[in-house]
Amino acid sequence: MRNSAKTVQLELIASPKPFVKWAGGKRQLLDRLIEHAPRSYNTYLEPFIGGGALMFALMPSKCIISDINAELINTYNVIREDVYELLDSLEQHTNDEKYFYAMRARNTIALTSVERASRFIYLNKTCFNGLYRENSKGFFNVPFGRYENPNIVDTENLIAVSKYLNDSDVQFLNQDYIRTADMAKKGDFVYFDPPYLPASKTASFTKYAKSDFTVKDQERLSIKFSELANRGCYVLLSNSNMPFIKELYKDFEIIEIEATRAINCKAEKRGKGMYEVIVKSYYI
Ligand SMILES: C[S@@+](CC[C@H](N)C(=O)[O-])C[C@H]1O[C@@H](n2cnc3c(N)ncnc32)[C@H](O)[C@@H]1O
Repeated sequence: MRNSAKTVQLELIASPKPFVKWAGGKRQLLDRLIEHAPRSYNTYLEPFIGGGALMFALMPSKCIISDINAELINTYNVIREDVYELLDSLEQHTNDEKYFYAMRARNTIALTSVERASRFIYLNKTCFNGLYRENSKGFFNVPFGRYENPNIVDTENLIAVSKYLNDSDVQFLNQDYIRTADMAKKGDFVYFDPPYLPASKTASFTKYAKSDFTVKDQERLSIKFSELANRGCYVLLSNSNMPFIKELYKDFEIIEIEATRAINCKAEKRGKGMYEVIVKSYYI
């Protein structure tokens, strides 16, 4: 991270928060997740990091975080290494429909890592509902959001995130969650926040990347959960409150959580209910 008078001034501020709006973002469940997190552990691993709400809340000193989304992981890297260049680049964007579609159409292969991160944050802040969705060819395909004043350049938070990522030992990986989970050792804390099993075909949002997270993937994940628990890891998971999920984790403590659905533009469809569960492999 480059240092300047501006840095010193900005370093005195806020705690880091997620820098993207993310489908399945955990902001509203945070208190419950924190309540159920182990009190002490070695490394924190989050194999489906997304916006990283729990990591930013706990601010562990040693982490391994990963996601299948390459643009997201590149952005974490750039925020750590080049936050000032990133801020300069973010300043160049405009919240204009024509500009948005031109930016959306850009092929990321031709861009530098800073330009890719800048495009990613710009699209996230200005697209419809802050979703990240790709078509079958792997291109971002969410329409323009028509927000009046999106916070494209959130300087204070990006500096706070960069500072945290520089001050702690964080490894970023762009890979399938199984490979990250396999890195966990006895005494580590692993938090799994996978794409949720939808209550019905349209009731939830599971299409984060090129391929969907299937029922088979949910089963594969539950097997990995048990394996890590047997290894002596502290394993925590969130998912939707569905009979199938409860059956998969019936050998563990399951806590039903009241939540509001996050990704829905229609306020009246954001009802409260016991939509989610937390599964825990340990007692605190
Ligand atoms: C529910 S979101 C995580 C939300 C996150 N906890 C937050 O606070 O924003 C699920 C994440 O899993 C990622 N993902 C989907 N399939 C994956 C896979 N097979 N391996 C690793 N990550 C995956 C998606 O890109 C998405 O970021």
